[in-house]
Parts: sequence; structure tokens; C-alpha cells
Amino acid sequence: MQLSANTTAPYEDPLFQIDWDAVDHQCWWLPPDALSLAGVPEFEALPLADRQRLSHCEYLHLLQTGLWLEALFVERLALLAWRSGDPHTRAAYLREIREEAGHSLMFVELIRRSGIALALPQSAGVRLGHALGRWIPPGSALFWAMVVIGEELPNRLNRQLQRGVEDVTLSSVVFRIARIHSRDEAMHAALARRQCEEATRRSAPWRLALLSRVLAPMLGAFTRHVHYPPAPVYETAGLRPARRWRALALRNPVRRALARQTAAPTLEFLRRIGWNLRQDDAARHP
Ligand SMILES: [Fe+2]
Ligand SMILES: [Fe+2]
Repeated sequence: MQLSANTTAPYEDPLFQIDWDAVDHQCWWLPPDALSLAGVPEFEALPLADRQRLSHCEYLHLLQTGLWLEALFVERLALLAWRSGDPHTRAAYLREIREEAGHSLMFVELIRRSGIALALPQSAGVRLGHALGRWIPPGSALFWAMVVIGEELPNRLNRQLQRGVEDVTLSSVVFRIARIHSRDEAMHAALARRQCEEATRRSAPWRLALLSRVLAPMLGAFTRHVHYPPAPVYETAGLRPARRWRALALRNPVRRALARQTAAPTLEFLRRIGWNLRQDDAARHP
């Protein structure tokens, strides 16, 4: 089986494809319409520098999430690579580990250069996801379904960032990171979808029905985590009281629409291959 298309292209270290001296704070790190408070009148009335500061912090929240997911994924993938008897499959997994390490190195470098100290994600959803991610047997249908979710949702936000918005100056460094990351992630997601489809086909219907009850809250919690940063992100952006700003984000219809739109193709894919998920499983709010 062809696991990855990326077998012949020479590997390029992303760290050396970015002009790190160009890191700039006088610009957006996420387009204004991709922020959790986009369209909220109290937020839109703030000075430009304050709104841009939130874009820096929300982007760092995405990077922290990326670091967490990639660490978990690399750990599990290393085990799959080790166990695989097929040299092509093993090589495909090892290439993916190499690419994820390259992404994490970019994230670490931008976090370091940002001068912004953001706490590591610690929500109940993250702790549960971490525990499940380490407990679920790698290579199982549930494992690959979680990988599909973990790869696809943040990557769709990454694409939002690259689409270009008129009159918005986006950081060239962030744009480059997003482009490199989404190119690799598109291949990772394609591989995860194929593996997920195969593993799902091998699962008995009763088992899939049971596992769907585990996956549904995970999908909801992850969608929330990605789209609704925890209060410390607002605090670090200087928006206080942070809980009030977060509550505004949670009620924000613009954000809700984006969260639905971001999760929709993944939800549709999982439902199509047999997972028992409802349309609103990705859009519940705390
Ligand atoms: Fe990645
Ligand atoms: Fe990936």
C-alpha cells in the first residue's frame, strides 16, 4: 500500500526555510476575522494594537496545541513504526515523525521569539484527550479517528490564515510557518483518513457504536479547545477580566459559525465511513 506521496522529495528542515529575524509584532498573526472575538462590538472598539496582541496570543495558543498534539502523536507513531513489519509502512511513519519534529521546532522557535509567555494547555478536555491518546491502542479505529480530528481541525484554521484578507497585514513569518505546516499536514491527514477508513471497516458494528460514544465528546472538547482559548490567553493579551472576554467569545455567533464550518468536513467523513456522530457533536458548548 502507498502510505505517503512524500517518498522521493528531499526533506527540507523548516527551521532553515524561515527568516526568523523578520518576526514582527506590529501586524496580525491571525486575520482579524479568525479571532475568537471577531465581530464582538466591545472587542472591535479596542485600539488596533490591543486587537493585534490578541491575534499573537491566539496564534500561540494554536502553536501550543500543535506542540501538545505532535508530542502525543510522535510517541504513538514511534510505537507503530517499531511494530510494523513492512519496511514501506515503517518508513512512512518515520518520515511523518521527522516532519512533526520539524513543525514542533518551528513552533518552539516562534514561541521563544514572541517574548510572550503562555501557559501550557491544561483544560479538562486537554487532560482527558491526553490520557485517552496514550491509552488507546495505536493503529486502532479510535486512534486513527482521533488523529484525523487532531490533524484536520487545526489545519483548517491554518488555511484560514493563508487565504489573504484585504487591508490586513499578516506576519510574513506566521504566513510561512502556516504554509509549510499545512502542506505537510494535508499529506498526514490523507494518510490518517486512509488508515482510519481501513481500521473502521475492520471494526464490528457494536464496537463502532460503543467507540462513537467515546469519540463524540472528544470531538466536541477538541473543537472547543481549538476555537475557544482558555482564560489565560485573554489575560496574557491584556484583556481583563479574562473570564468576561472568554464568555463573550463563547457567545459569539461569528465564532460559532467558524467552529461549525471548521469541523464539518471531518464530521462528514467520519459519519460517512460509519461513525455514529451527530451534526452537533462538534458544536456543543460548555
Ligand atoms: Fe504537524
Ligand atoms: Fe501532522
